[in-house]
This record gives sequence, C-alpha cells and structure tokens, in this order.
Amino acid sequence: MITVSDLPALNATLNGLSAVLLVSAYLAIRRRRVSLHRGLMLSAVGVSILFLASYLYYHYHAGTTRFSGTGLVRVVYFAILISHTILAMAIVPLVIVTLTFALRERFVKHRRIARVTYPTWLYVSVTGILVYLMLYQWFPSG
Ligand code: HEM
Repeated sequence: MITVSDLPALNATLNGLSAVLLVSAYLAIRRRRVSLHRGLMLSAVGVSILFLASYLYYHYHAGTTRFSGTGLVRVVYFAILISHTILAMAIVPLVIVTLTFALRERFVKHRRIARVTYPTWLYVSVTGILVYLMLYQWFPSG
C-alpha cells in the first residue's frame, strides 16, 4: 500500500524514468527512428503527467519539507531548487508547443523549438532527482 510518505520516492523515480525516456527518444531521432522517437516522447509526456498529478497530491497533503543542510551545500541546494522550479514552469508550454508541431507534422518548426525543449526538460528531470536526494536522503530534517 502506497502512503503519502512514499510519494517523494515515487516522484523521484518518475523523474528518473522520464530522463531515461527523453535520452532514449533523442538517440532514436539521431538514428532517424521516427516512430520509436514518437513512442518514447509520448511515453515521457505520459510519465510526466503522472509525476505532476502525484507531486501536486503530495504537496496538497504533506505541505513543505525544510532543508537541513547548512553552509555551501545550502547555497547549492537553493541554486538547484530555484533553477529547477523556474524551468519546470517553463517546460509545460514548451512541451505542449513542441508536441503540437510534431503531431501536426510541422517538423521544421518542431525541431527548432525541440532543441530548447529537450535540454530544458532533461535539466528539470535530473535536478528533480537531485533535489529529492538532497532533501530526503542526504540532509533529512528531524
Ligand atoms: C514533446 C515531445 C518531443 C520532444 C521534446 C522532441 C524532441 C526532438 C528533438 C530534440 C529533435 C531534434 C533532433 C536533432 O537535433 O537532430 C526532434 C526531431 C524530430 N522529432 Fe521530435 N520530439 C518530441 C515529440 C515528437 C513526436 C510526437 C514526433 C512524432 C512523429 C516527433 C518527430 C520528430 C521528427 C520527425 C524529427 C526530425 C525533424 C527533422 O530533422 O527535420 N517528435 N524531436
């Protein structure tokens, strides 16, 4: 049975899964495997929607968790957290536009914006895992 306190680990796992799907999708399109690229990217979008639902549910029920690290590690943590949060908001419209161009077969425009969307999305996924590790595993409070 999954409880609210299991959700941060589940969310970090979903972040890791979407990072793996994104890199695999990128490698697929570099090899011109279009339908594989399409399937992997649509899976990454699906996993990210699950993540978002679970993330919002967790924060609605559990509130906020304080970071207990001090000194340099605290500065690093907040630099990662702030950049992660700002870019996480930016990828929502970026992914919608990138996906819309692809599904309408406007591939020149798709590729142009995807070159921004892809690295931004990957940064958000990887820093999401880092924030989880720093907050819940490496510097747990209480
Ligand atoms: C939001 C999801 C998606 C992202 C982030 C994404 C990302 C990318 C990236 C980064 C490239 C450029 C690769 C390069 O630099 O050579 C690309 C190209 C491409 N993508 Fe996607 N993709 C997504 C969804 C899709 C979907 C659903 C399709 C459906 C068929 C698709 C079809 C293509 C095609 C055909 C190209 C090659 C375009 C060209 O080289 O002219 N993509 N995509």
